[in-house]
Amino acid sequence: TTVPPVDINNVQGDILAGIPKKFEATLFFNIDDNVTAFRKNLTKVIPFITTTTQAQGIRASILKHKQEAAARGAQADLVPVVGVTLAFSQFGLKKIGINDHIGDSLFENGQLADAQALNDKGTIKDNKFTPDWLPVFKNGIHGVFVIASDSQSSIEAKITEIKSKLGTTIHEVFRVNGNVRPKEEAGHEHFGFLDGISNPAVIDFDTHPLPGQGNPISPGFILLGRQDDPNRTSRPSWAVEGSIMAFRYLSQLVPEFNTFLKKNPIQIGEMTPEQGSEFLGARLMGRWKSGAPLDLAPLKDDPELAADRQRNNNFDYSFPEDIQTQDRCPFAAHVRKTNPRNDLGNRVERNRIIRRGIPFGPEVTPTEAQQGKTTHDRGLLFRCYQSVLGNGFHFIQQSWANNEGFPFGKPADQTPGFDPIIGQAPDPNSRVRVVGGTNPQNATANLSLPTDWVVSKGGEYFFAPSISALKTTFAT
Ligand code: HEM
Repeated sequence: TTVPPVDINNVQGDILAGIPKKFEATLFFNIDDNVTAFRKNLTKVIPFITTTTQAQGIRASILKHKQEAAARGAQADLVPVVGVTLAFSQFGLKKIGINDHIGDSLFENGQLADAQALNDKGTIKDNKFTPDWLPVFKNGIHGVFVIASDSQSSIEAKITEIKSKLGTTIHEVFRVNGNVRPKEEAGHEHFGFLDGISNPAVIDFDTHPLPGQGNPISPGFILLGRQDDPNRTSRPSWAVEGSIMAFRYLSQLVPEFNTFLKKNPIQIGEMTPEQGSEFLGARLMGRWKSGAPLDLAPLKDDPELAADRQRNNNFDYSFPEDIQTQDRCPFAAHVRKTNPRNDLGNRVERNRIIRRGIPFGPEVTPTEAQQGKTTHDRGLLFRCYQSVLGNGFHFIQQSWANNEGFPFGKPADQTPGFDPIIGQAPDPNSRVRVVGGTNPQNATANLSLPTDWVVSKGGEYFFAPSISALKTTFAT
């Protein structure tokens, strides 16, 4: 059977294109009991939802603006942008009265039921696991709006508009604001590393993949019901061209992370202690803070390489020494764990996800830095899309990041260990994580991490419907 190509007017813009943003509000809501009124009012909100075509248009106009400004030798001024994404949890679908199975059991059971399998921290009482999450994520959220913009005031205006259309048919249960970090840190997550470099190229959409994006992936690995969706035959028709969003509220203990790096500098060659600490951070991430990948810049940062989009993702751990040694990049480095590229013969298409996160919380204060202790909550509002959670987010977290043996087939005396950034150990009482290969000159030595620096405070699995499904199945 031939599966129709993707209709990019029908797919929400956050999924394949991404909406350029400096600020982003994530607004969780519950639907009130008058569901008929909600569905009626929803009709008036659908025009606000950004399509892929619109998101592409926004990107193109920003690019044009930048090029014109550069030609004038001027700074580009901001292009006003507001993008809106809407998605529903299983609780939301049920509330609306949509009882079809979308063909993803992890979605249908909700993230709370998955917390233990993800090794989130928590307590077991009477055989029942309760994660240490923010209460709101334990209460069954119905839906989420994500509003992205170049300005906080445009976000506020858009939220007011959305709320005025929906009236009392929803109520906000939690809202968290994300923002791109200031100045030189723009685009970097709170530990300081450039983020948002590597996402897969999707067939039917990304016509000009960048070097190193890997084999372009079939749209069905991201969108339900499209080419190569592993569960295509079990999807209801309205679910086609929707995508499953995994949202995670991940706090980052930045001063604690920095203190650990400071105390454990890698000592090789002429490196100063500061350089050795910087190097350890890079070994844990698999990239330098600049974004330069260790596989291409193994011993020294290369800011020029980092800034060059044609080169900064153009690696796949296929140097002859890569497969069996950690000379260039530890087996457990975050980017290697979460996208092992040639460690799996570059056949990783079905486990790829599209990431759209944004940092939240303030910059580290001088007091926090000095005391090495977090007192203000900050981290990453992690959001990613896939068609099957058991191949995407859930699989990457459980079977790769939390799995000490992965990637498999490495030398017997070099167990890769946990993903040092996001890996979580199973036992809630003893969560010491061991990571191998951090020192390239002593690859069999292990490093014990005293604590987790990324702490899950919860999240939910949502379904981001196509525009046509919003019109015909969700609204009336
Ligand atoms: C890449 C940081 C959570 C999956 C990256 C990169 C950074 C980073 C700096 C490199 C930039 C890039 O390649 O685009 C973080 C931090 C996290 C976090 C600080 C938590 C606070 C997660 C989670 C997952 C994940 C929860 C999935 C379970 C990935 C993937 C890549 C990546 C798939 C791309 C790897 C590649 O294609 O080379 N992350 N991340 N990350 N991360 Fe994370």
